[in-house]
Amino acid sequence: MALRNIRVDDDPILRKHARPVTEFNDRLFDLLDDMAETMYKANGVGLAGPQVGVLRRVVVMDVSEDRNELIELINPEITHTEGSQTGNEGCLSLPGLCGTVTRPMVVQVKAQNRHGKWCLYKGEGLKARCFCHELDHLDGILYKDKLDEGTELFRPSEDE
Ligand code: NI
Repeated sequence: MALRNIRVDDDPILRKHARPVTEFNDRLFDLLDDMAETMYKANGVGLAGPQVGVLRRVVVMDVSEDRNELIELINPEITHTEGSQTGNEGCLSLPGLCGTVTRPMVVQVKAQNRHGKWCLYKGEGLKARCFCHELDHLDGILYKDKLDEGTELFRPSEDE
């Protein structure tokens, strides 16, 4: 496994549309392994292909406290949402910043696993927020595009 370079700020690749994964091979496994390692090292809860310069529809996530519940999503699609939540969001590609975004409270996602099998995932709260945030990355959308009306990006205080 190897760490990948996280693209940040105005890197144009963050604004591009990622293509579906069609080959479930060693190259994909390496990418997924590297993305997980990079996410854990950076202390993030999620990372999408474009953030490491790969325009493919792949996401890794882990919203667990113990950092031991890795989720790999290939070609993910949101199939159902319920309710809403308003809270602060950050992104490894926008270091040091935070913003208030309203997202669904419950999100159901259909995605392939690394072997190409379709699986169903359900998330509530932070996990639901993370599904939305990471899937947006695959379409070139950043959370700062979706800030609640009347709010702005801010820098969370160090001691928070
Ligand atoms: Ni992000």
